[in-house]
Amino acid sequence: MTYPTFNMDHHWLPFTPNRSFQQDPRIFVAAEGMHFTTHDGRQVIDGISSLWCVAAGHNRREINEAIKRQLDTLDYATAFNASNDQAFKAAEMIAAMAPGDLNKVLFCNSGSEAADTSLKVALAYHRARGEGHRNVFIGRERGYHGVGFGGMSVGGIPANRKVFGTALLPRVDHMRFIHDPVNHAYIHGVEPEWSEDLLLELENRILPLHDPSNVAAVIVEPVAGSAGWYLPPKGYLKRLREICDKHGILLIFDEVITGFGRLGTNFGADYYGVVPDMLNFAKCVTNGVIPLGGVVCSDRIYNAMMAANASSSEYAIEFFHGYTYSGHPVACAAAIATLELFKRDNLFERAADMGKVLGDAMHDALKGLPNVIGIRSLGLAGAVELAPAPGAPGKRGYEIFMDCFRHGVMVRAAGDSVVLCPPYIVEKEHIERIVTVLADAIRKCV
Ligand SMILES: Cc1ncc(COP(=O)(O)O)c(C=O)c1O
Repeated sequence: MTYPTFNMDHHWLPFTPNRSFQQDPRIFVAAEGMHFTTHDGRQVIDGISSLWCVAAGHNRREINEAIKRQLDTLDYATAFNASNDQAFKAAEMIAAMAPGDLNKVLFCNSGSEAADTSLKVALAYHRARGEGHRNVFIGRERGYHGVGFGGMSVGGIPANRKVFGTALLPRVDHMRFIHDPVNHAYIHGVEPEWSEDLLLELENRILPLHDPSNVAAVIVEPVAGSAGWYLPPKGYLKRLREICDKHGILLIFDEVITGFGRLGTNFGADYYGVVPDMLNFAKCVTNGVIPLGGVVCSDRIYNAMMAANASSSEYAIEFFHGYTYSGHPVACAAAIATLELFKRDNLFERAADMGKVLGDAMHDALKGLPNVIGIRSLGLAGAVELAPAPGAPGKRGYEIFMDCFRHGVMVRAAGDSVVLCPPYIVEKEHIERIVTVLADAIRKCV
């Protein structure tokens, strides 16, 4: 199959070095299972579930058929003052999967919107309870919560914030990062045990600085994904929960990456046995096929917002927030089919099993290679960290990504960490191929 050359004058690619991309484009025209087909007819293994989305593999007929059926039945319906049957069913399924009293789903279209939605819920909830002064948010260094102004503000990846200076939210602080490159450079499926209590900083410095009574919410990813798959210390999330409870602060888990099976459990919250007050999701909920995101809120939050309006008139809206496409019927139909497929094929269990294979393969094949300074694996994901090239941070990660792609494997560079997070349908042979190609690329990149 030959394709015409592409007019590349108009599509500005996100989070991509556009100038070099145009010299050496990577363009997919088809995908099936674990593989993409490129415009020049090559097969490339999707080693990153297309950015943590395609958990069930590409081109799943069950999801595609559900979408087609829905298009022919109810293509779209306004989300305000009305809704659609698919949105109720999808919300019910998601609430049933979520832990504890996380039962109320606010839909949006992406992880970025989920982040901003959850921050807005936090402010509105506190205000509804007469604590409108609670307006400080606390994120964590190197956290990623998307690209909206809220998510960017609580996020902690320096390059994403650098040029947006004064436009970032003012009342935000960040906890320190959760990595110890000396004692925990190599982590293989176990929670790292720190001798130091990382959260003392929150208790003894950050909260007193702002006064805990002014803090609305703490937001963290259970495992820091975009930064390069960094695991929390043992007991960290439980203790974070306790600190938040002590001070009436809401705890938000951003599970855009850890949600829907990546750790072998429904959510990271289940893996770590900690129930947040809000849980943000996106990506895998539709297998990436159609944009859908959301925030699962606790009954407590929802009830407080309703109670605050108990004496309001019948036309009073309780929360002034939402998107034209909140709960889009086609996206929700895709979510229903995806969640059914996950269950039918026991894909979360499979993710846990294949995660062990991936972790073993990464630690066996990559430890000791030139410039490798760490390997972290948990669930069906892992990262290998390279020492940055002198004066050129990120160069090694990028070069390894490019080399792997040329050899038919899609990996993800996060600075000088290279991340693998294949679809849950991955087979042992795929993992061997991915890791072999990655090892070769690391050897070449001296
Ligand atoms: C934890 C987390 N939150 C939010 C986002 C943003 O999601 P989106 O790109 O769908 O806006 C991402 C994306 O990778 C993410 O990993």
